[in-house]
Order: sequence, then structure tokens, then C-alpha cells
Amino acid sequence: MGTSMKALIAKKRDGLQLSGEEIRTFVNGYTAGDIPDFQASALLMAIFCRGLDDEETMFLTEAMVASGERVDLSSVPGIKADKHSTGGVGDKTTLVLVPLVAAAGLMMAKLSGRSLGHTGGTLDKLAAIPGFNAELGPEAFFAQVTRVGAAIAGQSVRLVPADKKLYRLRDLTATVESVPLIASSVMSKKIAAGADVIVLDVKAGRGAFMRTAGEARLLARAMVDIGTRLGRRVGALVTAMEQPLGRRVGNALEVAEAIATLRGEGPPDLVELCLALGAEILVLAGAAETLDIARSRLARTLDEGRALALFRELVSAQGGDARVVDDPGLLPRAPRTACLTASSGGFVAALDALLVAEAAMEAGARLEDGGVLDPGAGVILRRKVGDPVGAGEILAEVHLARGVEQHRSLALLSRAFTIGAVKPVPLPLVLDRITDPAVWAPGNGITTPAGFSSVPGDTDRPDLTRADSL
Ligand code: URA
Repeated sequence: MGTSMKALIAKKRDGLQLSGEEIRTFVNGYTAGDIPDFQASALLMAIFCRGLDDEETMFLTEAMVASGERVDLSSVPGIKADKHSTGGVGDKTTLVLVPLVAAAGLMMAKLSGRSLGHTGGTLDKLAAIPGFNAELGPEAFFAQVTRVGAAIAGQSVRLVPADKKLYRLRDLTATVESVPLIASSVMSKKIAAGADVIVLDVKAGRGAFMRTAGEARLLARAMVDIGTRLGRRVGALVTAMEQPLGRRVGNALEVAEAIATLRGEGPPDLVELCLALGAEILVLAGAAETLDIARSRLARTLDEGRALALFRELVSAQGGDARVVDDPGLLPRAPRTACLTASSGGFVAALDALLVAEAAMEAGARLEDGGVLDPGAGVILRRKVGDPVGAGEILAEVHLARGVEQHRSLALLSRAFTIGAVKPVPLPLVLDRITDPAVWAPGNGITTPAGFSSVPGDTDRPDLTRADSL
């Protein structure tokens, strides 16, 4: 094993293409413990520096999928859809999108995760609902998706153990920030999770792992390419994450905002993102001919209260107190609040999502180790980018866990806001749209909505795909 691994490292170091067999040898050998960390690290660094082409990235993804169990959704009738976000601040989209798309007739089999770094995790948000159980075994998960149309659960089977090992090593060897390595890591878990249709929300900006739209676009393309090559219908939206999504950051606060959105009273950016991602799912699933048709259907589903009813059913099916859906006042609340006020008047020119996430953490919404101090803790943004504010008016509220000092959280929030004299030009939320070019070929009857900067697949596909920052 040692010699062939040495040859394999040298091959990638010299910028040559690895075969599927070589990639499988590496992944299987490393997962089994036959290849030492120092050789795996050297190969990862060679990949980081030299990149992987589309075919190598697909082989890596396949080998990682094969390292563990797979969710077999074949017992669930119909087309099964899944959604993945690369992580943002205030991103409670899953809580709205899953019941919304299910109420429109699709099966949403959603496996979610916990918080990662500064970004929130859906399972932590759902845990704020008293009694909610996200630990469904495979049988209960399949049965609920079939009966209710949707379930949101943590991974109960050992999906992609190779990724677990490799991710840890990447974290220790400064090789996380590589587009093919991130793309194969994310897509191996999505492929193993078994859905037919996968929609990716790739976030770009201060509150995201990918800081620029260009980097996010590269990642989106790589992931769509992998999924399509592996027989799934995959689409991606590149979306802005400069300021938080919606107005609430923190577990119970975000659940309340998601419920308000399901009632038709959501913040415009969250509503827009849910409709945009949902429309992609419906079109990819063949349930709507065009994005416009899909959007109107979803908007109607929301207006008629059907998505809210489905969320109530989902919460109840998973043991949660469904009364919170009608009375969000029953959700946990932090014992104290403090306000940040504007020292001068004007318009909010910028709102730094990363600093807001840090302020929410300081308030007790999340601990360094990923735990939660108080599910009720977090931040409510009373002003967002473009909003006018007068001197002395409230910019944001922090909801503080017991025993937490307010000044650190307020200081971070104060740095997060930039107030200017002129109203800033509004920036688009959806920055780009990447889908399989075959699906979007001209003449197939599918329209591209106005305002998208490029038609998917119309730009060159880079093969040395290293992101400069995550
Ligand atoms: N999230 C993942 O699942 N994998 C990565 O490599 C980075 C972010």
C-alpha cells in the first residue's frame, strides 16, 4: 500500500489525472485505516494545490458514498426531493421550504445537521420546539415521509464514514478550502441520503463559507456536475449572505420567524428564497413546467395555509408540541433583552452577518463546541440594509441567556451595523442559478426568470477549482 500511495501522491503532485481505481484505493485504504494520516495529508495537499477535474471529483464522491450505508427511499412512493444549504446566518429556509414543497405535492425527505462554525443548524432550531424528536430510525423516517409528505431528521445511519475521517484531516492540514474537496464532501452525503431531486443553496458573502459570488459559483457548478453525473436531478442557486436572512438569529427566534413565514407574514428575503428554491425543486421534479408556474403554485399553497398545516402535522408526527405553530409564545424565551440604538440617523448601509452570528453566540444561542446555552437566546434585527433609522431608535435587540453579560453581544452588534447618509442600492438575493445544461437547453419550454446574470452552463467550467477562502 505504501509504494502505490507514494506513486499516487507523486502523480497528483505533478498535476496528472488520477484514475477511478486509484481514487478508490485511496478512499478505501484510508477509511479502513491502512493508509497513514501523513500520506493521506500529502495527497490532500496535492489535490488542494493541483485540483481535481470533473471526472476525478465524481470518482472521489462515488468512492466516499460507497464507504458507508445509503438511505434507500424506494419504499416511499413518488419523487423524493432534498435541499442543502452551505450554511448561513438566520437561515431558517428548511423549516419553511420542507412543508411548503410537501404541501405542493412532493415528498421531502430531509436529513439535516447541527450548527457548523458560526452557521446555524436546522436540528438545533427544531430542538427549540418542546418534545420535537429528530432522531428517527429509517423505518419511522420512511413511514412519516409517506404519510405526511415530509420529515426532517438527523442521520441515524452511518452515511459516508470516509467524509468524517477526511474532513477531520482536512481541518488539521489546511486543506478544507478546496472546491473539489468541499463539493465531493457535500455531494457524497446528499447522494447517500437517497433523494431523486437535490436543490443546493450556495451562499456567498460575509456570513458564508464562500466569501465571494465567484467562489460560490465554482462550488455550485462542481456540485451540480457531480450530482448530474451520478444520475440525480440537481440545481443550485447562489444566494447573498452579506446580511442575515430574515430578521431573527437564534434557535427559537428563528422557529418563530419560520412559522410567521408559513402564515404569510414572513420577511421578504426569506419568502423570496423559499419560493425561488421551491420553484427549482418543482421544475426539476417535473411537477411544474416553468419556474413561474411553480412559484405561483407555491405562493398559493402558502396563502391558503396548506404549508402551515403541513408543518403542524410534521411537528406533531415527530413528537413536538404542535401548539407552538398557533402560539409561538409557547417557544422558549430568554430571560432578558437589551437593545442597541443608533447613535446617529440615516440608512443602514451594511449589516455584517458574521458579526451578528457572533453576537447571537455571545448572547447564548450557541456555544463554541456547537452546543446551545439557551434555545431562546439570539438577536432580533429591527433594521436591515436599506432601512431608515433615526438617532436613538432601536437597531437590534439581543435576547440573553441567564448569566450572560450584555456588553459583548451589544458591542459586536454595534460593529455589525454601518449607518450612511444615503439609501443604498438594493442588492439581489439570488446572484446566480446553476443547473444541468441539458435540462435547461433552449426550446425545452422552461423559462429563465429575468434578472439572472447568466444562463446556467454558459460559462467555462474550470478544472483547477481551488477556492481562495471559505
Ligand atoms: N461542509 C461539508 O459538508 N464539507 C465540507 O468540506 C465543507 C463544508
